[in-house]
Amino acid sequence: MNRAPARPGAVGVARPTLSTTVDLPGSGARGWVVVDSLVDGLAMGGTRMTPTVTERELTALARAMTHKLALVGLPIGGAKAGIAPGPGATAERHTVLRAFGRATAPLLHGGVYLGCDQGTTYADRHMVFEAAGYDVTRRPGATRLTVGWGELWDHMADITGYGVAVAVLGALRAAGTRAPQRVVVQGFGTVGRAVAHHLAARGHRVVAVADVRGTVEDPRGLPVAELIAHTGGDGTIDRTRLPTAVRVHGPGRAWLAVDADVLVLAASPAAVDEEAVPGVRAGLVVEGGNLSCTGPARRLLRESGHTVLPDVVVNVGGAAATGCVLAGLAPSDLPLPRLSAWLRAWVADRITANGELVQELSASGSIDPVAELLTSRGARRPSPVGAGH
Ligand SMILES: NC(=O)c1ccc[n+]([C@@H]2O[C@H](COP(=O)([O-])OP(=O)(O)OC[C@H]3O[C@@H](n4cnc5c(N)ncnc54)[C@H](O)[C@@H]3O)[C@@H](O)[C@H]2O)c1
Repeated sequence: MNRAPARPGAVGVARPTLSTTVDLPGSGARGWVVVDSLVDGLAMGGTRMTPTVTERELTALARAMTHKLALVGLPIGGAKAGIAPGPGATAERHTVLRAFGRATAPLLHGGVYLGCDQGTTYADRHMVFEAAGYDVTRRPGATRLTVGWGELWDHMADITGYGVAVAVLGALRAAGTRAPQRVVVQGFGTVGRAVAHHLAARGHRVVAVADVRGTVEDPRGLPVAELIAHTGGDGTIDRTRLPTAVRVHGPGRAWLAVDADVLVLAASPAAVDEEAVPGVRAGLVVEGGNLSCTGPARRLLRESGHTVLPDVVVNVGGAAATGCVLAGLAPSDLPLPRLSAWLRAWVADRITANGELVQELSASGSIDPVAELLTSRGARRPSPVGAGH
């Protein structure tokens, strides 16, 4: 376990404040919690459950959380947890999650909020909290809610994608673009579907979307609502329900070759690497997922005249809204629709302002605008993520 002194208000410390393995005896699974930084004794991040998750990956993601929260001005440090079921995993999922909840109870009660992430659902989070005897709504200092925690986030399930769409609209406004744009969305999960929905609702034309099975394309515009209705919870589109005009490509990067103005990346890391850069047709590239572009690819894209909106600036909606409630910044006792509207407006303001600053810094020749923004807000470099934004 590494420990570095926690400074209130400090972000971007050189190593995580705390990095620990979580014992999940008899389950064959392994777990970790990484707290990159504590601010006023508080940190937050999601718990991901994938076969390949490593402590190293979590360390990078916990640092990204520190950056995201610092950029939106929340007084909360970054954290991330992970559970790797492992090839020899024998226990049922609920047994593993409960064991994880019991083991992490002191951290949860002590101010390290662990929410959902890749591979975990709201129901999983509920199971972890229950096993830990942790009731987030009673956290001292948190906003007093008139609705259940689960109900609030069910209602706000699109918030990260909403924030990404807000960033796209802000960038188009800044560029003076008024005409409907052609949009490609790579990844049609929670984030990708919400981005597609919100951009289509603002009159933009979604010309292709991709999931793990490949790309579906229609240059005249895909029927987004229909596609969403025919997509499973895991983000896989039912090919048997597609309109006949839609072209279907297999796995690979067919989405890269689709002629578009905006490319939203909302799937796995490194979707755009150096090799892919010459094939990028859209002028605006948006990292809806974490680390969707490699560091060198981001630099090459900017050098070749593309605008890149980085992950830590645009995909913060879920973290920022949760943080607002945890830190007690959201108003108490609002009914659900008004609380949701308040949180959406808060998220939109922060993302729009940061998006504008990143674009200004890029336009003035900065090769790493996010690092400059973080430095100007008192955060330290370099990041162990290992790649500039
Ligand atoms: N959900 C959130 O609130 C949130 C918040 C911040 C960051 N993120 C990040 O955004 C990304 C997407 O998150 P999500 O919650 O939408 O995930 P998800 O699991 O709901 O969906 C992922 C989507 O990507 C597709 N996909 C996977 N591999 C692909 C490939 N090689 N090519 C094309 N499509 C592929 C899947 O089929 C699916 O449609 C992840 O990197 C996640 O860590 C999510």
